[in-house]
Amino acid sequence: MVDDVSRILSGDIEDEADLVVDGSLRPRSLAEYIGQAEVKANLSVLLQAAKNRGEAADHILLYGPPGLGKTTLATIVARELGVNVRYTSGPAIERAGDLAAILTSLEERDVLFIDEVHRLNRAVEEILYPAMEDYALDVMIGKGPSARSLRLSLKPFTIVGATTRAGRISSPLRDRFGATYRLDFYADHELASIVRRSAEILGVTIDSAAVEAIARRGRGTPRIVNRLLKRVRDNAEVHGDGRVDEATARSAMRMMEIDDEGLDSADRKLLAAIVQKFASGPVGVAALAAVLSEETDTIEDVHEPFLLRLGFIDRTPQGRIATDLGRAHLSALGYEIPPPRRPDAGMPSLWDEPAEPSAPLDPDRSPATEA
Ligand SMILES: Nc1ncnc2c1ncn2[C@@H]1O[C@H](COP(=O)(O)OP(=O)(O)O)[C@@H](O)[C@H]1O
Ligand SMILES: [Mg+2]
Repeated sequence: MVDDVSRILSGDIEDEADLVVDGSLRPRSLAEYIGQAEVKANLSVLLQAAKNRGEAADHILLYGPPGLGKTTLATIVARELGVNVRYTSGPAIERAGDLAAILTSLEERDVLFIDEVHRLNRAVEEILYPAMEDYALDVMIGKGPSARSLRLSLKPFTIVGATTRAGRISSPLRDRFGATYRLDFYADHELASIVRRSAEILGVTIDSAAVEAIARRGRGTPRIVNRLLKRVRDNAEVHGDGRVDEATARSAMRMMEIDDEGLDSADRKLLAAIVQKFASGPVGVAALAAVLSEETDTIEDVHEPFLLRLGFIDRTPQGRIATDLGRAHLSALGYEIPPPRRPDAGMPSLWDEPAEPSAPLDPDRSPATEA
């Protein structure tokens, strides 16, 4: 059950089954793609211009938290251009030769989608530079003194790269993308449209209060609202007549331990660790990862972005802190809230007396950790 819940919320797992199940829910054109208005407007100009010129579109870099629609958008780019798309990912391309094989197999103006493009290894990246810049492949033939390099030309193509954080990509690679788009969390009304669309495709009868209840708890993420919808539907089929109303939706989400802000148990554990174990911070991500037995990447990619967006945590040069809002959320759920270590009024000014906390010192309080 716990595994199940984290699977639903983490939003970053994309196995085969997921692609198949989700396939029918994926929008197929820019017009069907809900939200991200600015990205869509820019992208539509870029694609139209490329089509008019009959050229391959510029390489496109998409970044943003998991589940916001990067893979979907890459598929749409290819469809809108009327070309084929190949899917691969940074870790899947182990050797330079693997990439060379893929690149030489592309047809003119095809799209190559590289997921987790920040995880390409150095040797592969170096093959990619001339390929992206000049549609050229530099290959070495022979060994030793007789070895020489041969430049092969490739048919023009478009790389669509995806990453959870743009800052992780090496700058030479980043510079070779002609367009970079950042996907942001979706507004509740956009998620509601996605839930309605998915319900229609799946043939689920759902009322608007239930749509809103799901949208509100979807962490701003289409993949998550789709998964919630499916679980809520299961619940309605097993415990009721299959129709989804607000009560069935809410009770299904309670079973999944999703609270009213859409936080799952892992999110709450993270927030609670900052508040209770580190006196609301500041605390470094490495220390949090150790306390929670989580990967720092999972914390930074999956949990933090949404807690930041809700204003439940904040990032300071000294590390993560829990905000008053975050503490209030936990407090309303019955968590014990020790007083924060840092002075409430933010940073002390130069002429402040060194702050003596008025609250009794907590002997368990851990010292501040590196950011
Ligand atoms: N803008 C959107 N409108 C409707 N559904 C969307 C949208 N973006 C994503 N989805 C849905 O969410 C799921 C996850 O999107 P995906 O492209 O796999 O995210 P990412 O690659 O960023 O992790 C898709 O299968 C699709 O059903
Ligand atoms: Mg993806």
